[in-house]
Amino acid sequence: MTASQRGFQKRLSSVIIYAASPMFERPRGTNDWGPEDMAKRRFVESRFVQLAESFGFREVSTPAFESLELFTAKSGPAIVRELYAFKDQGGRDLALRPEFTASILRFYVSDLRSRPKPLKLYSTGNVFRYEEPQKGRYREFSQVNAEIIGGAALPSDAEVIALAIGTMRAIGLKQVKARIGNIGILRRFLPFASADQAVVLHSLDKRNFPMLDAELDRLGRPDLSKALRQLVELSGDVSVLDQAAKILGSEASAGFEYLRKIADLLDAYGVSRRDYAFDMGVVRGLDYYTGMVFEIDSPNLGAEKQVGGGGAYNLAEVFGGERIAQTGFALGLDRLVMAAEAEQATEPPRPLDAYVVPIGEGVQEKGIEVLTSLRAAGLGADIDLVGRGPSKNLDYANAIGARYAVLLGEKELNASKATVRDMASGVQREVALADLADAILRSPVSRAPEPAKPRRRAAGTRAGRSRRH
Ligand code: HAM
Repeated sequence: MTASQRGFQKRLSSVIIYAASPMFERPRGTNDWGPEDMAKRRFVESRFVQLAESFGFREVSTPAFESLELFTAKSGPAIVRELYAFKDQGGRDLALRPEFTASILRFYVSDLRSRPKPLKLYSTGNVFRYEEPQKGRYREFSQVNAEIIGGAALPSDAEVIALAIGTMRAIGLKQVKARIGNIGILRRFLPFASADQAVVLHSLDKRNFPMLDAELDRLGRPDLSKALRQLVELSGDVSVLDQAAKILGSEASAGFEYLRKIADLLDAYGVSRRDYAFDMGVVRGLDYYTGMVFEIDSPNLGAEKQVGGGGAYNLAEVFGGERIAQTGFALGLDRLVMAAEAEQATEPPRPLDAYVVPIGEGVQEKGIEVLTSLRAAGLGADIDLVGRGPSKNLDYANAIGARYAVLLGEKELNASKATVRDMASGVQREVALADLADAILRSPVSRAPEPAKPRRRAAGTRAGRSRRH
């Protein structure tokens, strides 16, 4: 074989090896989040955390997987279809958490019951549901979640709504629309065992009126259909509560009075009446709600516009605890970020303050010392790790959006100085090393970085998304 044949064979085999190496794809319904995405997600999450802390909520953390029974105890075995349920190597039935509420109430019943009431707890993190993925609907997604356990029902309900709407305002969202209802009224109106009640409520939630009528026929109460249909279509200001009370009669009046008082308390919180409507059709998809329920939309998001939901519920008793008021909500972080992006409400990430460029042999160590002193002063600082020449290094500093390049040549170092280049204007000046950190700290952040961002496919938008698996 000639040298050129050998060369060809070598190139061919490397092509074959390359083509045969697996290119792993992330699992369906999951996302990779790059640095720019993460900056937005952290910004949105931090607004919730700051506000929740200012409301007196404290953070708790629970496992990402729980015993399967925690989720089937209230919702029954049918819920398993919607979960990531599995057996571990010890044969235990487990599930990845589909939400925080059940875990927090398990934690409350087992460990937190003796704490002073009310307990105000928040959590943030990823949750998992076996859903059909599409834009804004994933199999792994993140929530910010808050619960109040052991407060009086009315002020606690108002407090969680105020925190939920307040979070959206703190993010800078202008389009906020909450819908507040009372599932307790509906439950009292439906004289059925809980499994039958759940099916009727499900048909109302989905506005599936043929299914509603079929169920009411089966249960021998077709007479309830007209009132229920009228009721779930009612949405608007407090005046709809009078209309709803007329449909259901005097038995339901206490439930509507409760919602009127919520409106008064929300006034006191400074929540605008334009930010919410009363909506008797808010039924919620989860089985544990017992009283006030609410959902929040970001109207410009289209199909997946519901960014949050919550309400009063009863899980402590189901998990072996006492009867005690529980209320809370979760906001979907992924959808909050989408809403913030649509309204251009996200803050650009803080740019890197200084990029250190050692020039020439023998200045690398001094460069690291300067870098370390900048970092110790609280600045974001980075250094050439490739060994590029000065002009390539300036290109890199520009590409990553650094505010200043700190050029360190032998001449400057001998004079205990550095050349500081303002990357936005290109203006350079000499600064004594002793004053370097101060000079950069004192200079205002003059521009947001615009690093190049590769295009990313979001879960639910990739080829083959119609395949269910
Ligand atoms: P949820 O309505 O099931 O409530 O979820 C809350 C929010 O999570 C939704 O409004 C939505 O923004 C987001 N979300 C739900 N499913 C997905 C998905 N597949 N992909 C992306 N985002 C999603 C709860 O989870 C209750 N635990 C709330 C609560 C707390 N109730 C009382 N306390």
